[in-house]
Amino acid sequence: MKIIVILCLNFLLAAGVIHEGKYRAAVVAYSPNLTAEEPLDRLYQNVGNYLDYIDEAGLQKCDIIVFPEDGLTGWYDVITYEERVEMFSTAVPEPSSNVSPCKSNDGIYSKALKSFSCSALKNRIYVVVNLAERFYEENTKKTVYYNTNVVFDRDGVVVARFRKINLLNEIFFRAANESVTFKTDFGVTFGIFTCFDITFRNPALTTLEDPEVTDIVFPVAWFSHLPFIQSLSIHHGYTISTGVNMLSANLHDPASRNGGTAIYFAGGDIAKVYLTGSEGSKMIISDVPKVSKRKPPHPCQVINILPSSNVERVEDINGFITSTENLANYTWKAVDLTQKEVRETVCSGGKFCCNFDISLTSTQPTNYVYKMVAYHGTVQLSANDRLGTRACGLVACTNEDIASCGHRLDVPPKGVTFGRIEIKGVFQAQHSHDQPASLKYNLKPVSNYTFCRQQVGDDHVEVSVSTVDKQDALLTFGIYGRVFNNDGKPVGVINIK
Ligand SMILES: *[C@@H]1O[C@H](CO)[C@@H](O)[C@H](O)[C@H]1NC(C)=O
Ligand SMILES: *[C@@H]1O[C@H](CO)[C@@H](O)[C@H](O)[C@H]1NC(C)=O
Ligand SMILES: *[C@@H]1O[C@H](CO)[C@@H](O)[C@H](O)[C@H]1NC(C)=O
Ligand SMILES: *[C@@H]1O[C@H](CO)[C@@H](O)[C@H](O)[C@H]1NC(C)=O
Repeated sequence: MKIIVILCLNFLLAAGVIHEGKYRAAVVAYSPNLTAEEPLDRLYQNVGNYLDYIDEAGLQKCDIIVFPEDGLTGWYDVITYEERVEMFSTAVPEPSSNVSPCKSNDGIYSKALKSFSCSALKNRIYVVVNLAERFYEENTKKTVYYNTNVVFDRDGVVVARFRKINLLNEIFFRAANESVTFKTDFGVTFGIFTCFDITFRNPALTTLEDPEVTDIVFPVAWFSHLPFIQSLSIHHGYTISTGVNMLSANLHDPASRNGGTAIYFAGGDIAKVYLTGSEGSKMIISDVPKVSKRKPPHPCQVINILPSSNVERVEDINGFITSTENLANYTWKAVDLTQKEVRETVCSGGKFCCNFDISLTSTQPTNYVYKMVAYHGTVQLSANDRLGTRACGLVACTNEDIASCGHRLDVPPKGVTFGRIEIKGVFQAQHSHDQPASLKYNLKPVSNYTFCRQQVGDDHVEVSVSTVDKQDALLTFGIYGRVFNNDGKPVGVINIK
């Protein structure tokens, strides 16, 4: 009997701290140190910094720690120099072979990969690192490279290897095509993907075909574009439309628009968020309530973000640079700020229509104007990436020109308070996904609103967002949707027949 008790106790200790009903996560908003002359010295400097964070997360009894995309090297080298991708890369074991690179004498794993594996073991923590993977393809006899997230378990064993599917200007990497999930000893099954992947059916929705997946780990190097393609707005919107917890670690480089790291809870709460104009890395830690069953917003979900969720200093947010999307092909109507009630329908591509129902008060002078915009078509994100997009939104602009929408002044909007905003439409259901888009002047999502998406008839969905209490300092409020079978079509509006 005694022996059994001791064995059980050992087993529990070996499995780390088990938190009933929750687990503890760390995500790192990381600024790569790129000062060393030699590329490999830069890599090792950042590996050393990662190991310090893993030690700290271990001390704080975290179950899992997530680092951003391109954190070890910065993104510039890996999109610019093929020989550096080769230099930085490592073999990554096939998860089914249960290899701990720390203990392996194979000689094919890089010093970096081995040290992460040893650190996961030493600290008894799951570690998620994004790096360049080298893979020898037997049939073509060629070495190819992947942009890969590696997951180590508490023994340092590689339990998942996710290769990015949707590359963005990453010409030296091979695009993969497999969604990946992994189970943990704390009873949570995770999906995993990288940055741009979140906007594609494969893997952002295919991963969720496994009903056991309730949480996502998400390393990113996100460039924020306003009004719709801002990091926190897109990432938060995805967690709401899918009902997952998400651990997202973003590269932190405010001068080049990279930032927005957060721990999101299923149901819309943001446990903690870090987005700031200051340089420097930051680890954020939170307990995460386990989700027993995923509940997407059918039909409606009330988003009620706890007000104390920010860990950055609001006053330096203006150091965070954003760029502006080109909305030239959007249809729009100006909000008449002299009115108290505004009801309008704005359509794009013939039959794609957004209904706006807004109440407001304004006092002169105001420094922003607002437009109600609608779009059904493709948006060009790179030479090769044209995304089938549909969007409805109330967006802030700095003057009457549509080109000024998405610009952010260095003072907050003043003089306009929205009492109520409701935006609604009935859209085609096939091959689509819709999520809320919301952004305040402090670059955080709006804290109190409702999002609904429900099937009407066989092939349509009704989608709506509406505020719950009054809003000022608003930049964006609306619906950001994707129409996957319009991907790759010529850029511009697409008419609905
Ligand atoms: C960045 O790396 C260089 C060289 O590796 C090192 O001397 C310097 O202290 C590092 N800076 C920071 C802020 O860690
Ligand atoms: C990727 O997988 C999907 C679904 O499994 C398939 O439809 C698609 O053709 C594949 N793409 C490539 C490039 O293999
Ligand atoms: C959201 O709005 C409701 C209704 O006005 C209010 O009761 C609640 O306190 C608000 N929640 C937050 C977090 O502001
Ligand atoms: C707007 O649409 C036209 C085609 O009608 C296209 O040539 C142009 O590039 C589009 N502009 C933007 C910003 O998408």
